[in-house]
Amino acid sequence: MKPILFASALLAVCASAAPSSILQLRATTWNFRTMKTRGVNAGGWLVLEPWITPSLWSQWNSNPAAGPVDEFHLCQKLGKTACTNLLKNHWDTFITEADFQSMAANGLNTVRIPIGWWAFDSKPSPFIGGQAAYLDKAIVWARKYGLKIWIDLHGAPGSQNGFDNSGYRDKINWQSTVDPNVDRTVAILRTIAQKYGQAAYTDVVVCIELLNEPLGPKLDLARLRQFMYDAYGNVRNYSPSWIAVHDAFEPVTYWNGAKGFFEQNIILDHHHYQVFSQGELSRTFQQQVDVACAARGAEISGSDKLMIVGEWSGAMTDCARWLNGFNRWSRWEGRYDGSTLRKSCANWGTLEKMTATTRDQLNKYISAQMLSWETKGGWIFWTWKAEEGNQNDDWNMSKLFSWGIIRKINPTGQALNLRHPDVCG
Ligand SMILES: *[C@@H]1O[C@H](CO)[C@@H](O)[C@H](O)[C@H]1NC(C)=O
Repeated sequence: MKPILFASALLAVCASAAPSSILQLRATTWNFRTMKTRGVNAGGWLVLEPWITPSLWSQWNSNPAAGPVDEFHLCQKLGKTACTNLLKNHWDTFITEADFQSMAANGLNTVRIPIGWWAFDSKPSPFIGGQAAYLDKAIVWARKYGLKIWIDLHGAPGSQNGFDNSGYRDKINWQSTVDPNVDRTVAILRTIAQKYGQAAYTDVVVCIELLNEPLGPKLDLARLRQFMYDAYGNVRNYSPSWIAVHDAFEPVTYWNGAKGFFEQNIILDHHHYQVFSQGELSRTFQQQVDVACAARGAEISGSDKLMIVGEWSGAMTDCARWLNGFNRWSRWEGRYDGSTLRKSCANWGTLEKMTATTRDQLNKYISAQMLSWETKGGWIFWTWKAEEGNQNDDWNMSKLFSWGIIRKINPTGQALNLRHPDVCG
């Protein structure tokens, strides 16, 4: 099948038949245009990331060089039965109903849930399936506590970015000319939309994101854009939910003026972190805050889309263990990526070890970002939980709430409840 023809046919069908009812439904269930999104990611739950749950990698602690670097290789190494046992226990315990209750109690309104292609494929080996049942539980919990869910396809066949969070690290084979990975991805999205586009789900599932973080600079952008159109048409054919498109690390203006129905009816998802290069890590605290404040300018203001910052965090160092990947150390300590920084991670990432001043700086940095992201459609923090004792508290939103470093968020429509509302002047 020629995907191009297929997609334009679907787009034409959508554009002529569906829009008014779709727009009505969206406006009545959840209107991202008028409500600020104040949300959190359920990271490390249905897609593993070694740095969020290093305990799942603990058997390789003494010899990390021998360890698997991602979920694909973890399950390949353990085999189906052992991997199923390990992951089922993780899915049952890492995020539970109590977490959804707490997210709502802290004033959040949206939960973005990363999930991999292998959850919706009949032959995912060596990956194992079973995650969708937990997504379904999450939908029930979200409904109970008044939260909305944003389903996020985080890993595509072949990997769209080579990050461990795509399930498969270090190779980007998604656009292979030999394997039909792109077509498979469209088919997976169609499966997702056929299920979660049904009325039994759309009161809660308000958004489907086509593909997380395709690594634009390493991909054929023309093919990527065509994929977004094809996938958009397929999802829209079955689901009235909003559809999110990640900016692919291109300037947000790259997506301006895209054609037709696509242009008016997507959410553009932009991610923002300040810890993944030596240059960023060399800044002073005040410079990091200044950058967060300034990000509301050129970085995001030029988009003509409804735009939400779907990932960002409190981190000002890359000290969280395995953040840069399993068996990789930090630039902060000068141990990765040619970094010559020689700072100490000792007092970073663990709230108990931070001084009161540092904790207040963390509060300011987070506040500055919330204020910037709310100049557009809002924000979704990365992430709800990260295992303690691994210097990753600045990524653990539940802990930041319980320490008051992030205060309970006011309901949408009211000002944020910030200790330093004037941090950006
Ligand atoms: C994150 O913070 C919470 C609240 O302090 C803590 O209970 C939890 O152990 C931390 N990590 C995980 C994985 O939940």
